[in-house]
Amino acid sequence: MSQPHLRTVVVLAAGEGKRMKSALPKVLHPLLGRTLLGHVLSAAAPLAADRTVVVVGHGADQVGAHLAEIAPDATPVLQAEQLGTGHAVRIALDAVPDATGTVVVINGDVPLLRPETVSALVQAHEQAGAAATVLAAEVPDPTGLGRIVRDADGRLEQIVEERDATSAQRAIREINAGIYAFDVPRLRDALGKLSTDNDQGEEYLTDVFGLLGSAGEPVTVHVAADHVETLGCNDRVELAALRRLLRDRINEAWMRTGVSLLDPETTWIDVTVALDRDAVIDQNTQLRGGTVVGTGAVVGPDVTLVDTVVGAGATVLRSHAIGAEVGPGASVGPYAYLRPEARLAEKSKVGTFVEVKNSEVGPGAKVPHLSYVGDATIGAKANIGAATIFVNYDGVNKNRTVVGEGAFVGCDTSLIAPVEVGAGAYVAAGSAIAQDVPPGALGVTRAPQRNIEGWVARKRPGTVSAAAAERALRAAEGAPVGGGAASEGEAIHGEAESVGGASAAGDTATE
Ligand code: UD1
Ligand code: MG
Repeated sequence: MSQPHLRTVVVLAAGEGKRMKSALPKVLHPLLGRTLLGHVLSAAAPLAADRTVVVVGHGADQVGAHLAEIAPDATPVLQAEQLGTGHAVRIALDAVPDATGTVVVINGDVPLLRPETVSALVQAHEQAGAAATVLAAEVPDPTGLGRIVRDADGRLEQIVEERDATSAQRAIREINAGIYAFDVPRLRDALGKLSTDNDQGEEYLTDVFGLLGSAGEPVTVHVAADHVETLGCNDRVELAALRRLLRDRINEAWMRTGVSLLDPETTWIDVTVALDRDAVIDQNTQLRGGTVVGTGAVVGPDVTLVDTVVGAGATVLRSHAIGAEVGPGASVGPYAYLRPEARLAEKSKVGTFVEVKNSEVGPGAKVPHLSYVGDATIGAKANIGAATIFVNYDGVNKNRTVVGEGAFVGCDTSLIAPVEVGAGAYVAAGSAIAQDVPPGALGVTRAPQRNIEGWVARKRPGTVSAAAAERALRAAEGAPVGGGAASEGEAIHGEAESVGGASAAGDTATE
């Protein structure tokens, strides 16, 4: 029976948002993965409108550029002077002269609005055959908002701005949420009749309701089930409050799908993030952008992931990652920094104070401590000793390092790119490797060690060291041969764990 309606969406985003006190236009402020404008546009997305018009004014270039990125099909329309919400809608409709059917108008600063609520508003409006329908909500504190004034029968009479309201009208707690559905031809007609006879001298979109109502046109109110959805954002205190509300909404939704959040109040997940069942997110964790966390993975505490994919069963502890990939069962942190194109294959390990950039760490390979890995390919099951630095930058160019499968790089080594350590090769601790090490070879660049006996007694007499040395030497003289002291091999090994001693590489890497 009813004809399919052509639908238009108009978003009002020309205001400056003075109270934000920001160089950034209000609608571009970010809120858990989208700008305020982005949130509003996604609330309207399920309407599948034929046309979306965004009225821009303050920061029009910036808003227009952002719009081109997030909604290239939307049309920005410039409102050079902000002469009121009625004026804004009038010029928006001028830009779509062929529009008919329903137009949905949304203030650009209501980011918690749900798509379901917008759809319900439109459905109620179209079913009632109304000329205009306003989304209203009963709020605890209506300060600053337009009030819904109803007649004795409960029918909408008019919408009154607070500054133009009588004290009786100010006591009304049912407010205009700033989201509306209109019948386009009747709206156009009413917009042509708006006056600026009000406290702000502006054309108020809300006056359309009084005008249409008194002309006998049906105007209706659709009450939002949850007033939180209608909260606007006028300053940064309100923005922070909206962020907490949205955080709770997002977190609750994830918990209901089977994700464990150990401390939801300190867990901040962008709307754009995806989490698999049985992922565990520990406290103080931020998951941003296109981040994905696989099933059984444990992320946190104290982790920030931006555009990072974490595979099933991986762990990421007290670390920061951006544009990285953590393979299934891999282990990251504590205190790791993964930068763009860091790709950690399954069951690999990137440990404490390790930075990885534009590098592949192969399956089961380990970089456990204090290393920089830049522009490298590390083969499967290779072991990179503590404090290994991949020297990727010669001051002009970035160069690559390849470490073969099963290679073993001793502690405190520089791998000076471009260079290759072959499969199964060893590099002795403390080496600076600038030439390829063939598969299975030991690369070593250290000068032989010399011990100058008695140096401390001669050069540092009277010091703590000299006294300790003297005691040790006396004890050694008095000790029975072969008893008490560790054998030479054990002593070197024990020392090598921490300082990278003089033995072969096998003794000098940490695990
Ligand atoms: C408006 C409503 C008020 C409602 C409230 C809900 C009017 C007259 N009043 O008041 O009843 O309770 O929203 O938040 O509409 N804008 C333009 N061009 C303009 C003026 C405004 O694009 O010339 C945009 C703003 O950027 C903003 C939106 O319209 O996104 C609303 O404008 P704002 O000044 O915030 O209106 P309120 O005083 O909040
Ligand atoms: Mg406002």
